[in-house]
Amino acid sequence: MKKLLTILLVGAMLLGLAACGGDKGGQQANNGGGTDEEKKETLVMATNAEFPPYEYWENNAIVGIDAEVAAAIADKLGMELRIDDMAFDATLVALQSGQANMVMAGMTVTPERQENVNFSEPYAEGHQVIIVKEDSTIATVEDLAGKKIGVQTNTTGDIYITDDLGDEAVARFNRGADAVMDLKNDKVDAVVIDLEPAKAFVAANEGLKILDTEYATEEYAIAINKNDTELLEKVNTALQELKDDGTLQQIIDTYIPAE
Ligand code: ARG
Repeated sequence: MKKLLTILLVGAMLLGLAACGGDKGGQQANNGGGTDEEKKETLVMATNAEFPPYEYWENNAIVGIDAEVAAAIADKLGMELRIDDMAFDATLVALQSGQANMVMAGMTVTPERQENVNFSEPYAEGHQVIIVKEDSTIATVEDLAGKKIGVQTNTTGDIYITDDLGDEAVARFNRGADAVMDLKNDKVDAVVIDLEPAKAFVAANEGLKILDTEYATEEYAIAINKNDTELLEKVNTALQELKDDGTLQQIIDTYIPAE
């Protein structure tokens, strides 16, 4: 229902904004009327809001680290932020087809993705970890051999497990939470996913734990269309300012309290 509403809303906004995303020219967006009220350009961020604490729904709004950092960047750019929620593997498609100006989705920088999009400087560190049931016999990465592993489609977790253990080892889900549900119901033996969402899922579900040995360490950055080097520069400048004045760390600390 919430999804449907969002789709309708986004659809209505798209109609209103016609040629916004990715289009560098023609963004003066003067809606006529001749008021002297300034019309801000829209910065469209594509994400998959199933990924706490980076992006998730709360009280009919998308909140989280990425949402707040994006808002701070938009502010510095004098732009209006709009966040579009979609499947994770749709985000880069939206970016490349010009429907979004950037992707912020706890997205890991990988060489393969870099062939298709540009990445900003990194703004956070990510870790792929393994979630199992508390009584699981799986204790190390090696123990994953021969097991069924749940992942979120097209995430680095999916890519690593498929590379290391083959397609037949992988069960793909649109939402990390659904992979975790199948773990609870013994339909998969483990879930490989990013550390912070893993913590949130384990906290929300009884009988699960995160293994101490992690699968990989990676960096999160903002993806931007290769043609939009101007935005890349602006975003990097804004990001650097947010790092220098402590805003970035402050946002991260709000959502990831020190243990
Ligand atoms: N860091 C992982 C990747 O880039 C997972 C990101 C998933 N993000 C999300 N919003 N669902 O592949």
